[in-house]
Amino acid sequence: MVPAMGGARARIADRLAGFGTSIFTEITGLALAHGAVNLGQGFPDFDGPGWIKDAATRAMAAGHHQYPRMFGVPELNRAIAAQYSRRGGPTFDPEREVTVTTGCTEAICCAFLGLLNPGDEVVLFQPFFDIYRAATALSGVTPRFVTLRPPAPGSGSGFWFDPEELRSAFSSRTRAIVVNTPHNPTGKVFTREELGLIADLCVRHDAVAVTDEVYEHLFYDPGVEHVFMATLPGMRERTLTLSSIGKTFSVTGWKIGWAAGPADLTGAVRAAHQFVTFSSTTPMQHAAAEALERGHGAIAALRSDLGSRRDELARILGHAGFVPHHAPSGYFIMADLGGLPFADDREACRRLPAEYGVAAIPPSVFYDDPGLGSRMVRFAFCKRRETIEEAGRRLAGLRR
Ligand SMILES: Cc1ncc(COP(=O)(O)O)c(C=O)c1O
Repeated sequence: MVPAMGGARARIADRLAGFGTSIFTEITGLALAHGAVNLGQGFPDFDGPGWIKDAATRAMAAGHHQYPRMFGVPELNRAIAAQYSRRGGPTFDPEREVTVTTGCTEAICCAFLGLLNPGDEVVLFQPFFDIYRAATALSGVTPRFVTLRPPAPGSGSGFWFDPEELRSAFSSRTRAIVVNTPHNPTGKVFTREELGLIADLCVRHDAVAVTDEVYEHLFYDPGVEHVFMATLPGMRERTLTLSSIGKTFSVTGWKIGWAAGPADLTGAVRAAHQFVTFSSTTPMQHAAAEALERGHGAIAALRSDLGSRRDELARILGHAGFVPHHAPSGYFIMADLGGLPFADDREACRRLPAEYGVAAIPPSVFYDDPGLGSRMVRFAFCKRRETIEEAGRRLAGLRR
């Protein structure tokens, strides 16, 4: 399925052969080739706060260089549990119920590998963060998809799902559902009611909710709240709460994440984690602990900055002829192609870097049925103000 690379015989195992090269690699290549402003990849083009970098430097100078404890340095396990308690979230025993991982990505893969057996079913919302799909392939699990549907373009309301479609995605083989809230790429923040519906189905089917909450601090509209699935009735014992510090402190390359949940679920994650990475970089764990303890001001500042950049990008996209869907949270705007002269998202994302000097991601790759995403393009706003303004100057050409 995957073409041989450089004339060599492809040796990729069957379970991964269908995935090919990630779209991010392809779009980054196009962005570099054409000197495009890259609104494709979801990472900031600015640094996290200086004091966080200082914390990492201090941790290195203090000699934290050897293998840490498999499930996290004690300071970080404590800081993770404490910040949930402070925010009215679930309570966790830092020693037994929190496992530090190499980013949320590793936590996702270890949750699948540790909890699920080949032939089990897992419910995924589409569009999905691409790692979930790959994790089903790695673990031999069958995905069942529920679609988050875009609102009518320009209506200002949010992505939604049909409760009936969700109910029928659950079967006697369902062992887990992945709930990513706030959601990449739609920016949807699942409401308490929506999470309650999912929770009822989990209880009824004895399924685990794996929640990916990496954007838990990044929501921008008044009245929006982040609800922790683990705090809903009956859910503490069946929720694995995953997150990381990458988005919260604009240090996506640090790759410090975690999985938190009751000891039986955490134990399953640890069973995989001990053989996948065993542990995550020691000095960054110490710095992450400090970030979680001292970071409230930095989080509030980032939320306000990103909220105004979202507004600016939405204005630019609207001016260029896209119809941006409102993004209450996260890093991305999904914009409808409206009347723009592109056949679909892939054509748009191949032509935009070359003809207009801006790179973006075609969201059809985040769907099991690519047709569902083919009328939208995903743009990232986690960028410096200058970057977004430059994209605006370039995209203005589309209007003409
Ligand atoms: C929904 C979601 N989960 C997880 C991750 C990855 O998190 P980490 O960098 O901590 O591995 C991302 C990164 O883009 C994401 O968007």
